[in-house]
Amino acid sequence: MTRDSYEDFAERYDWMKLDNPTRQEFFRSIFNMYGVKSVLDCACGTGRDLIMFQSMGLRVFGSDLSDSMLTVARRDICEANIPLRKVDYRELQENYNREFDAVVCLSNSINEVLEDAETLRALCSMRAVLCAGGILVFDQGQTDASMRTPPEFAPVLNNRDFTRFFTMAYTGDIQTVHIFDFIHTKDICEFKHSSVRIRIRLLDSWCQILRDAGFVSVEFFGDWDLTPYHKNSSQRLIAVAQK
Ligand SMILES: C[S@@+](CC[C@H](N)C(=O)[O-])C[C@H]1O[C@@H](n2cnc3c(N)ncnc32)[C@H](O)[C@@H]1O
Repeated sequence: MTRDSYEDFAERYDWMKLDNPTRQEFFRSIFNMYGVKSVLDCACGTGRDLIMFQSMGLRVFGSDLSDSMLTVARRDICEANIPLRKVDYRELQENYNREFDAVVCLSNSINEVLEDAETLRALCSMRAVLCAGGILVFDQGQTDASMRTPPEFAPVLNNRDFTRFFTMAYTGDIQTVHIFDFIHTKDICEFKHSSVRIRIRLLDSWCQILRDAGFVSVEFFGDWDLTPYHKNSSQRLIAVAQK
């Protein structure tokens, strides 16, 4: 990330976030299974998941590279007293002198580094701050099945005051997501556009690069309900990789 691609978007980011009890239950089950007591969300954005993890009784830490996302997090979740730091997830071991039972990197955040070498660096950095047997959890919305016909349009939200849709453009395995927001309240009529570039990897590529980063076992899920990942049908890819 060379410039802060969330600068124009951070204030509106949480408008599309809806509570998802199945997602919360996923983390409760996985964290129980691996005995997780401490978690670092290394791309915490506006911090919404930090609050969810804290509500599970975990010791919670948040970091992100975007000043604008961290500004929103510092304002919106200040009462939770969660330590928040500006750290590039490729440099975690240089910035944390402790280990965590889990590191999470959620909602396509891992895809925001585009080059193979940078993704490998990121995964090695996340692994380095895990304690022995600790887990890395990340997820992406693109899958082997969905990328057979790469989607070019996604309606996201439409209510009385606000409409959001995405369009997607592709150059090889780089996807540029254009975010279009229309604000149409009683007092405001405004249009905003922002965009984010992500690197799309499919199952085989993730298996290889996670192995290269030194993870000993990896489990892939196809949805938050713990369904195993199926190349032919899954519409989400969730990885749980153990150190
Ligand atoms: C789509 S947002 C997801 C935020 C949050 N995880 C969520 O689920 O709402 C992607 C986040 O990844 C962060 N990010 C991208 N590259 C990063 C890097 N190299 N180090 C740390 N954070 C990064 C962005 O700043 C942004 O906050």
